[in-house]
Amino acid sequence: MTPAEIAETTERLVASGAADIDAASSAEKLDEVERALLGKASPLNEIRKLMKDVAEADRPEIGKNVSAARATLEQKVADRRAALTKAARALSLVEDRLDLTIGGRGYRRGHLHPVTRIWRELEDVFVGMGYRVAEGPEVELDWYNFEALNFPPGHPARAMQDTLYVKLGEPEQVMLRTHTSPVQVRVMERQPPPIYVVALGRAFRRDTLDARHSPVFHQIECLTVDRGITLGHLLGTIEMFVHALFGPNISARFNPSYFPFTEPSAEFAMTCVFCEGEGCTVCSRTGWVELGGCGMVDPNVFRAVNIDPEEYTGFAFGFGIDRLVQLLYGVDHIKNLWDGDVRFAAQF
Ligand code: FA5
Repeated sequence: MTPAEIAETTERLVASGAADIDAASSAEKLDEVERALLGKASPLNEIRKLMKDVAEADRPEIGKNVSAARATLEQKVADRRAALTKAARALSLVEDRLDLTIGGRGYRRGHLHPVTRIWRELEDVFVGMGYRVAEGPEVELDWYNFEALNFPPGHPARAMQDTLYVKLGEPEQVMLRTHTSPVQVRVMERQPPPIYVVALGRAFRRDTLDARHSPVFHQIECLTVDRGITLGHLLGTIEMFVHALFGPNISARFNPSYFPFTEPSAEFAMTCVFCEGEGCTVCSRTGWVELGGCGMVDPNVFRAVNIDPEEYTGFAFGFGIDRLVQLLYGVDHIKNLWDGDVRFAAQF
């Protein structure tokens, strides 16, 4: 090939290459065109290989020609690539744009389970009276659940709390706590009087499910230990929380009862919230509904935790939170609270 022929060929290659580059409609296509025009098997490379057959004197000019063609095509590829990138970005700005004016789907807001709500309200009432909230384990030792509370082994009062034992340690020494009263012992072991605590939590008994009993339920325990605490303080505190929760028309009533860890002991009831004491089916026409037990801390309990009963006196009470919620919201069966049916929970 003569230099003139080579010059003509490169010129044609540049012209047709430029058209191919302009026609490449995507980055991938442009890569293909680039390979075809400038890669190892490209016509421009083939021309370079022919150089050895050309007269030496003509080589510099042909070399310059081929390099210039190559540079032109490389520049065109770079320009086209930049143009394609710019166009792709502009397109994605339009296509990927979020229309914030459409608005979201939104979530339906849930609310607390009624037992959780009353649990927190009770905490607020007692914290407002200067009490601290204490906690204890749900799996408890016989010492805390019974013995330190003056239920020695074989004591008939143990039979009042049908117990679920756990296979751990000595037989019948580890159990699901049957009430929140063991927290009293744990608190008294840890700190000297004065003690003003409430403990809320789950309790377990081998009770058959009925309208007001469930094998798993919740209690709140109150313990007050100080110098000069009397039965009057106990009655006043219960009256106070009943008024705080139910309003001034509801009062508390006390009936003598028995618990091994309090002396004297009482059961307390409150005016039936449905009939305000007039008598209805919920309260079996008595006008009262039983809530829980209470009393003055038995000196034997103080001795078990090394508190001097000659120096300190105290009161304690405990009642079922589930039952309180049943009364507050008119829930006729305790299982409705724990069925997990959202249609039920959504009503409150
Ligand atoms: C006790 O559990 C005593 N620890 C209460 C106490 C505390 C007395 C401090 C003195 C001093 P009782 O077994 O009566 O007492 O239970 C108290 C309340 O827990 C009951 O009135 C009831 O409201 C609730 N309760 C008991 N068993 C169940 C149950 N299976 N399901 C739902 N609530 C229950």
